[in-house]
Amino acid sequence: MDDLRRAGAAAVDVTADYLAGVREQRVWQPVAEEDRAWLTGQDLPTVGRSLDELVHDVRVRMLPYPMGNGHPRFFGWVNSPPSPAGVLVASMAAALNPSCAGGEHAGALLEYAVVRWLADLAGYPHTAGGGLLTSGASMATIIGLASARQRAARQDGWDAREEGLCGRPPMVMYVSAEGHSCLRKAAELLGLGARHVRVVPVDGRFRMDVDALRALIAQDAKAGLRPFCVAASAGTVNTGAVDPLEEIADVAADRGLWFHVDGAYGALGVLADGAAAAYAGIERADSLALDPHKWLGVPVDCGCVLLRDRASSRDAFSLVPAYLRDDSAAGLGWFSEYGPEQTRPFRALRAWATMSYLGRDGIVRLVNQTVRLAHTLAAMIEAADDFELLAPVTTSIVAFRYRLGNRDGRVDDLNRAIPAAVQQRGRAFLTGTRIGGMEALRACFLNPATTTEDLSILLNETRMAAEEIAA
Ligand SMILES: Cc1ncc(COP(=O)(O)O)c(C=O)c1O
Repeated sequence: MDDLRRAGAAAVDVTADYLAGVREQRVWQPVAEEDRAWLTGQDLPTVGRSLDELVHDVRVRMLPYPMGNGHPRFFGWVNSPPSPAGVLVASMAAALNPSCAGGEHAGALLEYAVVRWLADLAGYPHTAGGGLLTSGASMATIIGLASARQRAARQDGWDAREEGLCGRPPMVMYVSAEGHSCLRKAAELLGLGARHVRVVPVDGRFRMDVDALRALIAQDAKAGLRPFCVAASAGTVNTGAVDPLEEIADVAADRGLWFHVDGAYGALGVLADGAAAAYAGIERADSLALDPHKWLGVPVDCGCVLLRDRASSRDAFSLVPAYLRDDSAAGLGWFSEYGPEQTRPFRALRAWATMSYLGRDGIVRLVNQTVRLAHTLAAMIEAADDFELLAPVTTSIVAFRYRLGNRDGRVDDLNRAIPAAVQQRGRAFLTGTRIGGMEALRACFLNPATTTEDLSILLNETRMAAEEIAA
């Protein structure tokens, strides 16, 4: 273990230096040809290399090429910087290296506490075993919808796992036009068919139009289809909008639908000052997806699905062959009975360390601070002649675009080209999308190290990128 001790000490130094110096680095840079060739084309060494050499390679070949999300001027997609506590314990999780499928060991037991903490933070009712950690919200969504599918089949007197979906009225799911693509992917994977995912229009604030939802459900039921699930968003990826959850919960209750909430990014926005009213109804969800690897900054590979009735997902997934039987696992059983993963990593340790380190107060501060940054950027955009805001700010995402004076015909082309040009310049990172039929820019705030000056730099970088493109 002397090798590990020596190389480990060097790795800690390299990691701490890297994290301490992130602000001074370019946010992102293209990979140099030589390094690309090394990264993609290297041969498996015949003779094993030393741990010291591995630390050196990571420092020289990899740390110069981050995705960018550790930098305070990274505003792309929904990717946070890593929490230092999560970084700290990642190698300890690997040292224990349990499979958190279940069983009587620290890895599996800690997950119960972490899931309970997440439910408490999101204001979601919790009973022991009512949720599990996942790779991310995409997997959380699969678990939620598979549970919904099986419940609907049971209500209709059959078993979707045993029979498959053939010969049954198609099950229909309802998602707003702003719903995340993982909802449709899950529906496809579960054999529901993308044509049975109804896209519900949104209102002027990019929230699901509940009258339209009711009308679509009535129409499908009349046509002999089987409406079974409505998936609302608590924080859409484009604008951060929170759907009218209470009203949608009422519709779901009236029509006997499973109520899923995608709070992957935004569920913790409920902790922001004055935000609770907008989230009313989240506690009525049958399943809630919430990603600790987003707003909380748990290092990537940590999502969570919370379940009102854990029996629903156990009914959708539990399969315990003789070689996995554990007669001591009375009551709750194993986590692997509640989702598709059998061998499961020790995600709980990174999530536990991150939340313990911040404490509830620190988490509330983080959310408030990032929400404030979004409002500040929105105010700067409204005060500028060359930018316009495209959506109200409800969480920590700002949707906007650059205005090209009176050369309006090219506004869409220009805004489509801006994100890549900003990224190439290396001083800020933002990504684009389409909002209300328009090419848009969006900035997502998750990093408490971002300052107001960083916001000015973002707008200036966007202007300069726009000028470069227009030149
Ligand atoms: C609102 C929303 N839902 C779902 C997802 C998918 O989450 P994951 O990438 O963790 O699978 C994302 C990812 O950004 C998201 O923003």
